Amino acid sequence: MQSIEVALLGCGVVGQGVVKLLSDESSPLWERLGKKLVIKKVLVRDLKQSRDVTLAEGVLTTDPREILEDDAIKIVIEVMGGIEPAGALLLQALNNGKHIVTANKALLAEAGGPIFEMAAEKKRHVGFEASVAGGIPILKGLSEGLIANRIERVSGIINGTANYILSEMTEHGLEFADVLKAAQEAGYAEADPTFDIDGIDAAHKLAILITLCYGCQVPFKEIYTEGIRNISSLDIDFADSLGYSIKLLAIAQETKQGVEARVHPTMLPHGHLLTQVHGAMNAIHVVGDAVGESMFYGAGAGSLPTASAVVSDVAMIAARLEEPSLLDIAQRLHPADVRPISEWEGEYYLRFAVRDCPGALAQIAGLLGDHDISITSVYQPERDEGAEVPIVVMTHEAREQNMQSALQKIEALETVLAKPVLVRVEKG
Ligand SMILES: NC(=O)c1ccc[n+]([C@@H]2O[C@H](COP(=O)([O-])OP(=O)(O)OC[C@H]3O[C@@H](n4cnc5c(N)ncnc54)[C@H](OP(=O)(O)O)[C@@H]3O)[C@@H](O)[C@H]2O)c1
Repeated sequence: MQSIEVALLGCGVVGQGVVKLLSDESSPLWERLGKKLVIKKVLVRDLKQSRDVTLAEGVLTTDPREILEDDAIKIVIEVMGGIEPAGALLLQALNNGKHIVTANKALLAEAGGPIFEMAAEKKRHVGFEASVAGGIPILKGLSEGLIANRIERVSGIINGTANYILSEMTEHGLEFADVLKAAQEAGYAEADPTFDIDGIDAAHKLAILITLCYGCQVPFKEIYTEGIRNISSLDIDFADSLGYSIKLLAIAQETKQGVEARVHPTMLPHGHLLTQVHGAMNAIHVVGDAVGESMFYGAGAGSLPTASAVVSDVAMIAARLEEPSLLDIAQRLHPADVRPISEWEGEYYLRFAVRDCPGALAQIAGLLGDHDISITSVYQPERDEGAEVPIVVMTHEAREQNMQSALQKIEALETVLAKPVLVRVEKG
């Protein structure tokens, strides 16, 4: 059996999963591929760090040149994370004629252009299946399985931590801060959870999905990104009683005014496929013009699930080392025309914390009306006069720009005691 030598940049959570899969002599991979993948070198920071895998002596190194300058190494697998030095190492690997595989969504979303350009110039493959939704083969699903489709819309739960937090809040009536703290203590959430809970990680993955679906590169800062910090268990309860679940969704859609690219908490009607996705699981709902609706569901992170996606790329590249790849997108990329969130039109859930006094609701309704926003329903529980009370308003379709200027004026009202909560409603 032919052997192909590969190297890893990084041997942490994902890297160790890759080592395990590639060290499994009894894996069906070898018979299917008809070639053997041999790990020649693994770059780490600290040679003494204890690891869950055994590597032959001399395989671990702290010197990237042992990988980049070794012509026998054909495929470099980047699982170290961060923008630099990962980006520079991948560019050097491509420049030296190596194919690359990466799980690094932050790098691809924020600085992927030069990597794809270099790969196209050097006619090398870039595998990045693991960069979106971990173990779910969504990129191969889109680029191969759905190659004949115009993708009308893609929406997904692509951050497991945020979905876990919202699921726990929903199932146990807990508050955001308490669930986050418990998740951090149990190791489910990072010590710095900003990327996960503020939607940044989901936006990184959305940028990659948009590149595949629409052939354009959206400047990362043009993706409207809003996280889940402001969602309270009160909103989840109100949403539930109105027939909705709240999920952090990443949504892309082609419109006449450009590509919509947004990440934000979203109210979905009970019964929508994505409301069935609980805990840390991920799912991507795709609407193609030929296939109709498709749903991809699975583990969006974790050592072996993510390694499964990494190894699938390595195997595909090993199978067609010198052939062009369906994922070689650099030559097809065009600049993105992004439809700003201010032009979005849809229904809204609004919650206001007001001092319970006569006229508070009338003032809010008046300002919404002044901005062309009509109300479908209002809910205001009874409280003692003078106490803080929530007012929940559901609206008909309204324009985001109008909504934001109405909310600014409402927030300034003397009877409104906190920043209003807004959740966009999606039905498709
Ligand atoms: N974890 C997941 O479930 C998951 C899922 C999907 C995608 N990803 C992506 O996969 C990548 C890796 O994530 P991870 O969770 O495996 O990270 P991790 O556990 O922190 O592992 C990082 C590895 O890279 C090595 N490393 C980091 N900086 C280095 C440097 N400057 N020079 C040499 N080695 C360096 C570390 O070496 P030491 O071991 O010596 O410290 C470590 O082995 C990230 O891009 C992440 O976004 C992760």
